[in-house]
Amino acid sequence: MTTTFTDETRERAREIIARYPADRSRSALLPLLHLVQAEEGYVSPAGVAFCAEVLGLNKAQVGAVATFYTMYKRKPTGDFLVSVCTNTMCNVLGGQEVYDTLAEHLGVGHDETTADGTITLEHAECLAACDYGPVMTVNYDFFDGVDASTAVGVVDELRAGGRPMPTRGARLCTLKEMAVQLAGFADERDGAVADGGPGEPTLRGLRLAQQHGVSVPGFDPNTPIRSKAEADKAAAEAKAKAEAAKPAPVEASAAPVKGGDGASAPTGAAGVAGPAKPADATGPAKPAEASGSTTRDVKAPDDKSPQVRTAETRQPDATVPDVNSAASDAPGTKVPADRTGTAPQAGDARAAEAAGVAANAPAGDGKPAGDEAGAQERNLTEAKAGTDADGAGPADANETGAQK
Ligand code: FES
Repeated sequence: MTTTFTDETRERAREIIARYPADRSRSALLPLLHLVQAEEGYVSPAGVAFCAEVLGLNKAQVGAVATFYTMYKRKPTGDFLVSVCTNTMCNVLGGQEVYDTLAEHLGVGHDETTADGTITLEHAECLAACDYGPVMTVNYDFFDGVDASTAVGVVDELRAGGRPMPTRGARLCTLKEMAVQLAGFADERDGAVADGGPGEPTLRGLRLAQQHGVSVPGFDPNTPIRSKAEADKAAAEAKAKAEAAKPAPVEASAAPVKGGDGASAPTGAAGVAGPAKPADATGPAKPAEASGSTTRDVKAPDDKSPQVRTAETRQPDATVPDVNSAASDAPGTKVPADRTGTAPQAGDARAAEAAGVAANAPAGDGKPAGDEAGAQERNLTEAKAGTDADGAGPADANETGAQK
């Protein structure tokens, strides 16, 4: 479906997607939903279609996420989203009174917008600032310790075109502008990030640390908050430095190395930069296309099937047959690595998967331990048999279950 989103939004979408590994692009969905909200003020059907289009998902998948999180709005929203905490702590301190007063004053209820399109009111369930209660936020910036009167003052000023200063954080922006930041783009307003200082309860831990002489070695508390341009520049310099520090790749293709005679000739032939790598004494060096490319090495962890990952998570110490008969891997990394330096092969993953499923013993408490349908059915059958034989279940059932 063709959508109407601007070139700028499409460019930003590409930038967001580029932050994630190529085969993990769907992870970009959350910031992308903020991005489409930044253009339209809410996640419209067109926004859902746009996200689905650029990520190769279907609209049901995008809709399932968009409807799960309250920060994604499903209908047009005002310039300022006023959220009043009515959860326990704030409620005890008067949060409900603040909300009720605002609702009456503005003539709107929860998730409704004033006729002039300025304010959308909502009640919120804990805004993670209980020590400042009762709190309300405007476009997610905090107004601490509010009462009905100050809350009304804030919305009146907003409707009159003013921008009251939050208790903490940057000066207010519109909800669309905030959505751009939530999509992961810097607040470009001059000095906005450093506008507001933290509140005293937030600094309590710092004060105690200072009082008791607790500090983090090497940490500079005066580290300045950098602008996006400065951060980008620093990141580029760090990347260039890391690239320069990398050892040059071993040029296996420069001169085929013969190690079969046990002479252990170095693969780094004269004139090849970088640390010399001993040739595999048990066989010839790998051809350049196998050892010279890093692509498969980088993607190797992603070659694992979901079953392998699940088995490794549940049984990190399970023994996996190592087809290369070399030293065992570190716990949790049981996909066999070819000791001659090649990336894991499909057969290795299958062996690890088989071992993982085999090691994933059925839970005696009747819960399926494996993820594949056959394993679940088998586990249920065996669990039922164990329960029938032992009454309440085998004694080791809790042990097995505890590993989950
Ligand atoms: S209860 Fe209101 S911020 Fe937590």
